[in-house]
Amino acid sequence: MPATGQRRTESLPHELSVTCMSCGRSFAGTSAISTCPECGGLLDADIDLERTLTPIAFDAPKDSIGAQSGVWRFRSLLPDIPDEHIVTRYEGNTPLYWDDRLTDYAGLANGRMGVKHEGHNPTGSFKDRGMTVAVSHARTIGARVIACASTGNTSASLASYAATAGMPAMVLIPDGKISAGKLGQTIAYGATVVQIAGDFDLALKLLRELTSEFDVYLANSVNPFRPEGQKTIVFEILANLNWKAPDVIALPGGNLGNTAAFGKALSEAYQVGLIDRLPRIATIQAEGASPFARYFESGFDHYEPMTPNTIATAINIGAPASVERARRAIQGTSGLVTAVTDDEILDAKAIIDRAGIGCEPASAASLAGIRKLVAAGEIPDDATVVGVLTGNVLKDTDAIVNYHLSNVDNEPRPLANRPIKVDATLDALKKVLDDAVLG
Ligand code: F0G
Repeated sequence: MPATGQRRTESLPHELSVTCMSCGRSFAGTSAISTCPECGGLLDADIDLERTLTPIAFDAPKDSIGAQSGVWRFRSLLPDIPDEHIVTRYEGNTPLYWDDRLTDYAGLANGRMGVKHEGHNPTGSFKDRGMTVAVSHARTIGARVIACASTGNTSASLASYAATAGMPAMVLIPDGKISAGKLGQTIAYGATVVQIAGDFDLALKLLRELTSEFDVYLANSVNPFRPEGQKTIVFEILANLNWKAPDVIALPGGNLGNTAAFGKALSEAYQVGLIDRLPRIATIQAEGASPFARYFESGFDHYEPMTPNTIATAINIGAPASVERARRAIQGTSGLVTAVTDDEILDAKAIIDRAGIGCEPASAASLAGIRKLVAAGEIPDDATVVGVLTGNVLKDTDAIVNYHLSNVDNEPRPLANRPIKVDATLDALKKVLDDAVLG
């Protein structure tokens, strides 16, 4: 059965409708549509913004879902999903760390750098925030099968939430291009894993064709409901800062659903009066997968997808699906987009890891990008910046081992921390204590 949209009727709840960002037409949000049935544009879930909200709106009662979930706590700014359909693993409520070593590395001599650690979510990435809303919406509208294409984190998250809901999940992944940890999670949670000979962009293209022909719910971020959950990263950062907006919020960009979600969140928080100014969004891409950074450089005049190639497999994406929604987010916040090299990503990751915080490679693009933008004078050195660490350090242990154990031009990397092999004797340990630990 084709998953087509219907024109919205006035009797439907406001929150379960969607509006096309290109042609402005609205549709019922009660079927699984990911693009405008009239013009093919991207859709936004509608939220009632004709009111004023104060932070009290997010004080969830003790016995409510919002008391445990850092997503559903922000229900006043989310689509109206009935309690009985909510599928949650109590995501969100992640830590915001401030660390002088990160501030120094970023070059913020008179400012400060914090990191919001989304790797603390149930499956180890920010995707859980979007997935709780997408899978709950899928259940609300009676979907039977739910599917995604993924570079690994979305698939792990979908597999977990579909298992929680008792729904079958199918995931398409680029064969050999996702980390073992993410593949392992997705298999473990019981999704049907389909490995295709091609990259993420091809996987998503194929899946979009499949889901437009068959009654399969698409859980990628082109789905207008998934970014709704991801908006809560921003709401939570603002709440962490007592609703005083930072100067910049930085995040890695791949398929650009998160950049789009951040833009929508900031615009909504501003419109309902929760903040009195907009932070700038800084989206950071890997140089080998940077079509959005190039689009930005052209003054958003010329956009061209590319064949992606970066060590940060999570963001190895050359034809981001949410590019136009992300453009709106950057323009709407006077934001910035830049690209950093794989080496810059890996060094920034080593700094974050050494601070005891840890993250997966793609996440470290946030810090590497801020360092670059501060050095270039694009961000003043007295700025308050919050970078988003999108995934857990355990997501990609191969990247860690390769960084610390391999050589570049016959030399170890600058921050290499190599395990030491010794004989199993007390003397050998004493020598290590003197030479390596105390020395
Ligand atoms: N960081 C991590 C760790 C990710 O897994 C992703 C995307 C991003 C950043 C970029 O976010 O796509 O919204 O711009 N991962 C997707 C996936 C593509 O399939 O797991 P984006």
